[in-house]
Amino acid sequence: MKKFFLVTLISCTSFFNLCRADEGMYLPYILGTKVYNNMVKNGLKLTKEQLYSINKSSIKDAIVLFGRGCTAEIVSKEGLLFTNHHCGYNNIAEASSVAHNYLQDGFWAKTKQEEIACPGLSVLFLEKAEDVTSIVNAKLKDLNPSEIASKLPAILMELSNEASKQSGKEVKINSFYKGNQFIQFTYVKYTDVRLVGAPPESIGKFGGDTDNWEWPRHTGDFSIFRVYMSKDGKPADYSAENVPFKPKHFLPVSIKGVKNGDYAMIFGYPGGTNRYETSYGLNLKVDIENPNLVELRDARLKFMHTEMVKDPAVKLKLASNYAYVANYWKFFDGESKQIIKNNVIERKQKDEAAFELWAKGKKEYENIFTNIKATYDNWKPYTKHRVYINEGILGSPILAMASSLNALQNALIKNNSNQIKEQTEKVKVLFKAYFDAHDIPSDKNIVAAMIQMFYKNIDPSQRPENFYTNLKTYGNIDSDETYTKFANALFNNTILVDETKFNSFIAEPDSTTLKNDLAFQTATAFVNNYATNYAKYFVEFNNKLNTYSQLYLKGILEMNANNDALYPDANQTMRVSYGNVKSYSPKDGAVCKEVCTATGILEKYKPGDYEFDAPKKLIELIKAKDFGQYADKQTKDLVVGFISNNDITGGNSGSPVLNAKGELIGLAFDGNYEALSHKIAVDKDLNRTISLDVRYMLFVIEKLGGATNIINELQLVKQ
Ligand code: ARG
Repeated sequence: MKKFFLVTLISCTSFFNLCRADEGMYLPYILGTKVYNNMVKNGLKLTKEQLYSINKSSIKDAIVLFGRGCTAEIVSKEGLLFTNHHCGYNNIAEASSVAHNYLQDGFWAKTKQEEIACPGLSVLFLEKAEDVTSIVNAKLKDLNPSEIASKLPAILMELSNEASKQSGKEVKINSFYKGNQFIQFTYVKYTDVRLVGAPPESIGKFGGDTDNWEWPRHTGDFSIFRVYMSKDGKPADYSAENVPFKPKHFLPVSIKGVKNGDYAMIFGYPGGTNRYETSYGLNLKVDIENPNLVELRDARLKFMHTEMVKDPAVKLKLASNYAYVANYWKFFDGESKQIIKNNVIERKQKDEAAFELWAKGKKEYENIFTNIKATYDNWKPYTKHRVYINEGILGSPILAMASSLNALQNALIKNNSNQIKEQTEKVKVLFKAYFDAHDIPSDKNIVAAMIQMFYKNIDPSQRPENFYTNLKTYGNIDSDETYTKFANALFNNTILVDETKFNSFIAEPDSTTLKNDLAFQTATAFVNNYATNYAKYFVEFNNKLNTYSQLYLKGILEMNANNDALYPDANQTMRVSYGNVKSYSPKDGAVCKEVCTATGILEKYKPGDYEFDAPKKLIELIKAKDFGQYADKQTKDLVVGFISNNDITGGNSGSPVLNAKGELIGLAFDGNYEALSHKIAVDKDLNRTISLDVRYMLFVIEKLGGATNIINELQLVKQ
């Protein structure tokens, strides 16, 4: 009886229970039988080969890793791509000027000639995946655990680079189950990707940060691009001679609509989860990491926002970075709240207790949690300091830029001409990106605030002592004014706010200029203090944690030897998640419907508001119920978004939501607030993916943008 109880317990705690449809980001290339059968049970009408094949065209050929961390999908035979507005945001902002403000007004290319090149943007198509665990392990066999932990990233990088060189393709080896399995992915990279269409920001980001991570949601979060290739069908950098990419597979688009219970499947590149995290890690997150990150970001965002609302040119400069910082500011705040509310720490403690029972008598696993606890305890006194460096000091654009000059300064002092050359080139690129997006008034306030917060909140024994002694020459260390005065002085005594001065420095770099530069002095005072005195604790923490986590996961894999539904943490490799369109109850007594409609846009609409304004034309179209073929048969309204219980996370943004036949029904763009603990553990009742309904997207393209050329390119499924 007892044993039986243990088995049920094990198979029903968060990471051991895999009988549910709604949890799991699976690797499509090794989809287990149990998982595939469950997909079919849930409604899937496709074969495994139609999902993923390396010989025939399959859905995987229509899915790309977009830019640095989103997903996009091919929807026409001419390489047309759909992704989220927030994924194309930076490219749309870069294509914009105050005179041609596509971010504000939207953009629709009516012909291919009008499409806009996006320098720096690329997409990756997955060609194949192979298990290379034995090859990697052969490289690790003579190393001890701590050497493995510290050397593994470099070993994986070296093997990946070798394979890339040999194949002429982009090869990346990723670690799975915290170093218990290694898989090599071969990608083909296309670098000529052009902007085809984007709605005005008041549609693409309707609801702004207030609605971010929330349902119901009325954001038209999409943008459209096209992949180009050389005339002979190869990846090629931008050239007017290039021709539209011919995909192996593209997704048909279904405008039949969704209803509660419908099958929903999402392919994409989820960036990271930590589903096997221990209760010890969660305590650190909730007590120190998240709250400090949130407090620092909160301050930075306020200073940026103040300047952005004053001037459209500043808004264009800061918009992309602001959105990036704000997105996870709200996420980490909500994550802590939901970890507590959803009792995640207690659930982890139960998992750990079950593991210990299983591990009884198995020598290898003895003391594992004692060791993990000690590892966290040793790092805890310095955790906040590290957050303050990364999110505080380096959260200031000028200090981040200044700190990146450190390596150049070292090379100058050593008079190492090769390194000087190398660093000079690196710094030139960094400076351009920094300078184009730099706003002095907001950054001045950020510098003052970050230095003051550091003084107030970091253990006095860990402060860069000389820096604060010097600061006292500006006034009373406890008064705000002192920090403002200092920030003014910093901006008056640096080459980093003047392009001409910087250019003449970089043409002939010298160490004296940097030594006397107040921005450089300041950044290095903090960064070097951390690097010299505290970074070693982080390295030790990281190495030990990697070692124990690998062991913990080894045990979990052993426990689940017969369970082909166990899935690895997300790590920006292609995954598939399946589930159903589904309503939910966010709290006692309340139910959220599975769809929301254009009526909600009218309800939220606030003319002139920063977040809830909308184009007049959109409001008129909605009021006139001029929805054409996109109207919903059931509600007679226009469905804007829907939710499903798929398991996704950041990086899945832009991912296609597919019906049982593999037709596109929506674009995933968010998760709901009540389940913001999802990176750590899925809450079966609360977890929902928020998606844009393709019908709203096509309605905006056609009726608002007049871009029938785009609609005509798609393969619409109407019944
Ligand atoms: N939370 C969304 C994600 O991480 C991004 C939404 C962007 N919108 C915004 N208001 N910041 O994928």
